[in-house]
Amino acid sequence: AMIGKGGHRHFMAKEIFEQPQVIGDTLNAMFNPAARTITLPALPFDLAAVPRITMIACGTASLAGMVGRYWLERVARVPVDWDLASEFRYRAPVMADGGLAVFISQSGETADTLAALRYCKAHGQHCLSIVNAPESTIARESHAVLPTLAGPEIGVASTKAFTTQLVVLACLTIALAKMRGAIDHETEARLSSALTEVPARAAEVLNHDERIRAIAQSMLTPARDVLYLGRGSSYPLALEGALKLKEISYIHAEGYAAGEMKHGPIALIDESVPVVVIAPSDPLFDKTASNVQEVVARGGKVVVFSDPEGVARLRDLALDAIALPAVDPFVAPILYAIPVQQLAYHTAVDKGTDVDQPRNLAKAVTVE
Ligand code: G6P
Repeated sequence: AMIGKGGHRHFMAKEIFEQPQVIGDTLNAMFNPAARTITLPALPFDLAAVPRITMIACGTASLAGMVGRYWLERVARVPVDWDLASEFRYRAPVMADGGLAVFISQSGETADTLAALRYCKAHGQHCLSIVNAPESTIARESHAVLPTLAGPEIGVASTKAFTTQLVVLACLTIALAKMRGAIDHETEARLSSALTEVPARAAEVLNHDERIRAIAQSMLTPARDVLYLGRGSSYPLALEGALKLKEISYIHAEGYAAGEMKHGPIALIDESVPVVVIAPSDPLFDKTASNVQEVVARGGKVVVFSDPEGVARLRDLALDAIALPAVDPFVAPILYAIPVQQLAYHTAVDKGTDVDQPRNLAKAVTVE
């Protein structure tokens, strides 16, 4: 069927605005509202018994996997390795039999991810893929599939596939944590309730579109370089923000772990390098806030994405701060993905680039 832009100027905008819906669809396939529990589809191996997980993907999907690593280690208390498929496939990774390898891919056709899957199958791993294209090669060759229900994604830069990948990983985390006895029923109910709130909170985030557009135009469009900072599960979001901006606006951007700033990027800070900070009020907020202070003290122009409490705590600093809805820190990465997409989108539109078909990039990279 022909897919239209639904009144939006670009597929990317349409796909950003579809997120409350597709996040809800993906979650509803696994969430039981009466019991407030998550149920995964039946798997052909004993998930509870896997001693170790390896997350493998490319591009934006790899950053979903990086968030998954933070979640699975913290909540399910299982060791997690993470790698880019293009590195993994050539580094002769050592894998004990019976581990779980998780492949994340929108298209299910990315050549490096597929090669990594074949390597893991040959090395005694249970292979689980999180894919948006259920008929794809990666889906067919995996032992099990957890689908993202994002629907067709046309814009080359991934948006709704990313947030639905995060939803699946969050469900996997809760289900595995429960099986391993790492969380009690009360915690399971709290985390899954936090997930069910995401579609409504995501819709509220989309209401900030005008404000984000204004920041994109005044701060990012004129910049040559942009720095994104985050800590903990917000670090992959900083990487994703920078990746999105590079891909579609062609502005050089780097994502950095906030605590690593003083080991390099702080040397770049001046009034010409905007700094975008992802800082929900979580246990790491104060650490990130002190990095923000260091940037402001050096004349850096900062925009912080946080929540009402975080914005209040930063009020003495001269910066732009956007108060997103307050959510459980567990689900913050899903919600904070949206404003970084909007920021990149509006910057690219303002620069007049081909947002849905950026130069030199392909939607699915099926050759090395
Ligand atoms: C390309 C796309 C990205 C995507 C990456 C991985 O580079 O432009 O948006 O994140 O491939 O694709 P996959 O289909 O495996 O998720």
